[in-house]
Formats: sequence, structure tokens, C-alpha cells
Amino acid sequence: MHLLVTGSSGLIGSEAVSFFDGLGLRVTGLDNNMRADFFGPQGDTTWVRQRLEATCPHFAHVDLDIRDREGVLDLFRRERFDVVLHAAAQPSHDLAARRPFDDFDVNAVGTLNLLEACRRHSPDAVFLHLSTNKVYGDGPNRIRLRELETRWDYDDPEFEHGIPEGFPIDDCLHSLFGVSKTAGDLLAQEYARYFGLKVGVFRGGCLTGSRHSGVELHGFLNYLIHTALRGASYTIYGYKGKQVRDQIHSADVIGALWEFAQNPRAGEVYNLGGGKANAASLLECVAMTEKLTGRRPNLVYSDTNRIGDHICYYSDTRKLEAHYPRWRRRYGLEQIIEETAHTLRLEQRA
Ligand SMILES: NC(=O)c1ccc[n+]([C@@H]2O[C@H](COP(=O)([O-])OP(=O)(O)OC[C@H]3O[C@@H](n4cnc5c(N)ncnc54)[C@H](O)[C@@H]3O)[C@@H](O)[C@H]2O)c1
Repeated sequence: MHLLVTGSSGLIGSEAVSFFDGLGLRVTGLDNNMRADFFGPQGDTTWVRQRLEATCPHFAHVDLDIRDREGVLDLFRRERFDVVLHAAAQPSHDLAARRPFDDFDVNAVGTLNLLEACRRHSPDAVFLHLSTNKVYGDGPNRIRLRELETRWDYDDPEFEHGIPEGFPIDDCLHSLFGVSKTAGDLLAQEYARYFGLKVGVFRGGCLTGSRHSGVELHGFLNYLIHTALRGASYTIYGYKGKQVRDQIHSADVIGALWEFAQNPRAGEVYNLGGGKANAASLLECVAMTEKLTGRRPNLVYSDTNRIGDHICYYSDTRKLEAHYPRWRRRYGLEQIIEETAHTLRLEQRA
């Protein structure tokens, strides 16, 4: 079996490479280190690529930009793939507003390039598409909420388990990032419906883990732990720090994708996050980090929230659990924080 992983030096891509390599499968990883271009030196993923090259004997790296249509088509002409895991992206709201063309070219057009190359040259491959909860825009902010001491929560029994896949995507503010990702998400669904490709779409909550090259604009928990360990400043933007996110470890993401790859249901969309059990507010994540590491960042409050930011979001993952009952989350929130802090200290990135 031969797999293509795009964004292979990123959080999800690198977790996928290690996992598939560990199964003895041939993995081609595609990444052009654009994260460094997006976020500067702290977003540089060279260290991840080097580690994969040193530790994964079945892995080969290709330095290719997914915006390079001819380059992508050429790769698919040369190699046949059984699984394509598409995790390359411009991942930040705020950056998208500053670089709208790059954002759309990577997230929407880059996805189209891969889908079309796959259709032409590896039509039997399973295509795993990483999407985001930002396709729902700020719609979840309209759900009635209740304010608790350290977090917001839904005050509507319909969302007791979180946001389901049927939540509307219209009539809301998405951010340019949300729009480019929604375009990619719909394209991926369409290649299943229109062309019969075996595509699965996975709308991530907060995907995290120690492999993230976390920066202020993306990779919230990793970045928070990083600043805590260094005693550096961390700015909370609005919502009193009570905004809630559901954290899922990258290994649990790959577990779900692998279940789908072995038994694909073409065109299905799944919300994939930590769910209610791994949902916590920013303030709660700071407190948990302090409890587990003895360190906390120097918190700075800004009254202005990020445009379109969710006040409370956690994923309803019951559809995924029903379709793939063998899948389960292995990592709780405390474990994620402990592992991330341990790795950051070990690698002296903090
Ligand atoms: N991390 C999260 O919290 C989160 C949440 C929801 C959805 N997602 C989605 O999951 C996927 C993976 O996210 P991640 O956290 O691993 O991101 P990441 O930034 O860690 O990794 C993405 C990788 O893609 C590479 N890349 C970017 N542009 C490229 C291009 N034009 N050509 C080739 N490579 C390019 C980057 O260099 C980087 O290594 C993305 O689609 C993202 O939108 C992530």
C-alpha cells in the first residue's frame, strides 16, 4: 500500500507519516515548509521533516507546493496512491485576512489540484480531507449560552453533545479562512458525489499534540504550554477567557482517518474533535497547565475578541463513533498537556 500525505511536516501530516511508517507502509510526504513562510521561524517545520527522515524507513519527502498544478499532476502521473491524506493548509483566520490570495490558493485551489490529480491518476484511492469546524462560521455563537465561573456552555439541550454535522453553514461570518476551507470541504464532497471518489471529510475541532510548531496565530494549546514553560506573555482575546475549545490529540485524529480508510463511506462528513469530555476554556487550560507543570504564562487580556471566533465549540462526534465503533479517543486533556510539556522540555523548544 502506498500513501500520500500532504502537509507531512505539520501536526497531522507528521503524525500520519509516523503511524503509517510504523505499519510498514510506503509513505510519500509532501510539504514545502510554507508554515515558516506563514508564521516565521517559530512555524518552521524543518525539525519535523528531519526527524521523520531519520526515524521512518518507509518515508520519502517531496518538496512540492500544492498550488503547483503541473507539479501535483506530475507526481500523480509518476506514482500510484492507495490513500491520499490531505493535511496541507493555511490554517489561520487572522493570517487569511492579511494574505487572502495565498489563503484561497492553498486551501481551495490546492485541494482542487489534489482531488483532480487523484481522479485522473489514482481514482480508486481513498481521499481523506482535513476540514475544519470554521465551515460553521460563527453560527454556533447564536446558540443560547450560559456563563459558568470559568467557561461558557450551551444552554440548549439540542446541543448537549456538541455541534453535529447538520449544523447550518449559511448566514454567518466565516472569516476568509473559513470560506477557503469551506470551498475545499465542498469540493471534496463533490468529488465523491459527482465523480465517485472515495472521499471522507473530517471537520476538525482543536487538533493538537506535541508535534505542533505552535504559534500565536495557530496551534492554541501547544502555544499556550510553550509560553507557560517560558513564563512568557499569552494574550487572551475577548470572551473573558471563558471561550471553550475541544482538544483532540493528533494520534486520535489519525486513528479515525485510518478506520475510514479501511472501510470508506464515500462523501461522508464527520465532525472530529475532543468532544465534550475534552472541552475546556482558555482559563481552564491555563489552570490545568499550571497544575501539571508548575508554570503559567503571564496572561494579558484584550477586550476585543478575534473576528468570528467561537465562544463555545465542541464537536458532536456521535456520527463518527456510530459509523466506526472501533475508533475511540485515547488521549484526555491532562494527558495531552503533560505529553506536550514533556516533549517541549525534552526538545528544548521551551
Ligand atoms: N490544528 C488545528 O487546530 C486544526 C483544526 C481544524 C482543522 N485543521 C486542519 O487540519 C489540517 C492539518 O492542520 P495542522 O494543524 O497539521 O496544520 P500545520 O500548519 O501544522 O501543517 C500544515 C502543513 O502544510 C504545509 N503546507 C502549507 N501550505 C502548503 C503548500 N502550499 N504546499 C505544500 N505544503 C504546504 C505546511 O508547511 C505545514 O507543514 C489542515 O487542513 C487544517 O486546516 C487543523
